[in-house]
Amino acid sequence: MVKKNIDWGSLNFSYTKTDSRYVSQWREGVWDDGKMVEDANVTINESAGVLQYAQTCFEGLKAYTTEDGRVVTFRPELNAKRMYDTAQRLLMPPFDEGRFIEALDMLVKANLAYVPPYGSGATLYIRPYLFGSGPVIGVAPSPEYTFRMFCTPVGPYFKGGIKPLKLVVSEYDRAAPHGTGHIKAGLNYAMSLYAGYEAKSKGFAENLFLDAATRTNVEETGGANFIFITADNKVVTPKSPTILPSITRRSLMYVAKHYLNLETEERDIPLTEVSSFKEGGLCGTAAVISPIGSITTKDGVIAMPSGMDSMGPVTKQLYDTLTGIQMGRIEAPEGWIHEIA
Ligand code: PLP
Ligand code: COI
Repeated sequence: MVKKNIDWGSLNFSYTKTDSRYVSQWREGVWDDGKMVEDANVTINESAGVLQYAQTCFEGLKAYTTEDGRVVTFRPELNAKRMYDTAQRLLMPPFDEGRFIEALDMLVKANLAYVPPYGSGATLYIRPYLFGSGPVIGVAPSPEYTFRMFCTPVGPYFKGGIKPLKLVVSEYDRAAPHGTGHIKAGLNYAMSLYAGYEAKSKGFAENLFLDAATRTNVEETGGANFIFITADNKVVTPKSPTILPSITRRSLMYVAKHYLNLETEERDIPLTEVSSFKEGGLCGTAAVISPIGSITTKDGVIAMPSGMDSMGPVTKQLYDTLTGIQMGRIEAPEGWIHEIA
């Protein structure tokens, strides 16, 4: 198969239209059979639930070309499950988890020419999404839904690749206690835009959000979870019911323990503890692991001892092991790699 003529190495995290996408519609209580379509545009009623009351959710995963030339995805059944849970919380008909994987296979097979080659530094980002497409006018769940999945080749999420990032502790909250922080609702991201705009206009790459109830514990950024390395080399990550259960973070904690023999802890992480850590990183599908250089708080700047030039050594080991598993250089735990082509 001939690849598209794309300068893979200079891609950033932006949208490139690919050839085809998957679509399925829910009407009168059932999902239709679904199909691949070429039209990248969506036509819906002016009063669709997604347009009026933001009834929408999404997922994000990637396809990789492995060292031996296969095309694979990483733990996609966890994305299917998270989307199922998200849909239930937003009163949307969940899309069957098995059908999610079938749609993924169809999508990637139809767009193989856009899967970046091994070693190019780029990957194929896959965006499943589900939204209320039928008309509502009172505040109510939509009478019809659309599930779609498209893909786009992408490079690094942050400019400069994996250079340490400057973060700032946000004065805004991302997610309320007992709210929707633990699901991938579009509204969580709309709410974070203003905070993100303010942080970026002051020269920061991202916000660090604290827990909304006490404003003392580290939660996550607008699009990634956190991991930190303690002075005695433990890998720690915040435990909170209001952060998104990141598949990357869950995988990294496993890799730390079972591949690198490091102790791991998922627990409350007070902001006051962060200055004692050696290294830190943002982790997620888009972010992979992006190292933290500094965190600006209202009481001053926490400079991570790993510095502003490169990833700390433990973060680097985690990064190399995770990406090694994803690209087929390191043997994966049973069931982690889903081969498509
Ligand atoms: N946290 C938020 C708010 C996110 O949007 C994402 C991205 O999906 C993550 C964390 C990372 O999750 P995952 O590793 O499953 O991509
Ligand atoms: C992902 O990592 O896939 C996400 O959905 C994060 C998003 C903010 C790009």
